[in-house]
Amino acid sequence: MDSFELNKIAGAVLAAVLIIVASRTFIEIATTPHGGGEHEVVGYELPKAEGDAKSGEHGAAEGAAAPAASFDAAKVASLVGEADAEKGAKLFNKCKACHTNEQGGANKVGPHLWGVVDRAKGSVDGFKYSEAMTTKGGNWDNEALASFLHKPKEYIDGTKMIFSGFSSDSDVANMVAFLNTLK
Ligand code: HEC
Repeated sequence: MDSFELNKIAGAVLAAVLIIVASRTFIEIATTPHGGGEHEVVGYELPKAEGDAKSGEHGAAEGAAAPAASFDAAKVASLVGEADAEKGAKLFNKCKACHTNEQGGANKVGPHLWGVVDRAKGSVDGFKYSEAMTTKGGNWDNEALASFLHKPKEYIDGTKMIFSGFSSDSDVANMVAFLNTLK
């Protein structure tokens, strides 16, 4: 009764896959605080087909997390045109403690950000920048902003902006899209 045996094994494998998928989905739902996460690619490890079909045990190894893709500022800058400035506006709540975004806005802990796109780095009159910022050179184009907002201290070693940065490409692109509306 070979095919009958095979069917049983196939059934067991299918059941195991279903259990894994269902439990991972449940864990994801339970551990995801807000609807985001669309950038996460989730892969399921299939249990090995051979081996004892008697136990429903799934010794599926922890799926190795996808290697953190290195940040590509040029690529992210190219996403800005399609990005969602409204989402960026929400993300700007993280910046508000230190930055104003309206025309004629004051400098706070950080310089005002009205018209920041294409502005020379470290050029707001009356704001006391770090030396690292004023000597960086160049303008704030989309690519420079993307690099800075991804990892401020990596892009400008010695900046006095205390912000850890956005890890997700889409957050960076949405943020830069919002900054582009400040003109
Ligand atoms: C804790 C305060 C703080 C937070 C939060 C903060 N910044 Fe800053 N930001 C600063 C300071 C201070 C500087 C000046 C840095 C320097 O001189 O090295 C700065 C500089 C900048 C600059 C360069 C401006 C220029 O005139 O050259 C940009 C762009 C910027 N911040 C964007 C942002 C955005 C966008 C956010 C939110 C995602 C943010 N910052 C969050 C304090 C902050």
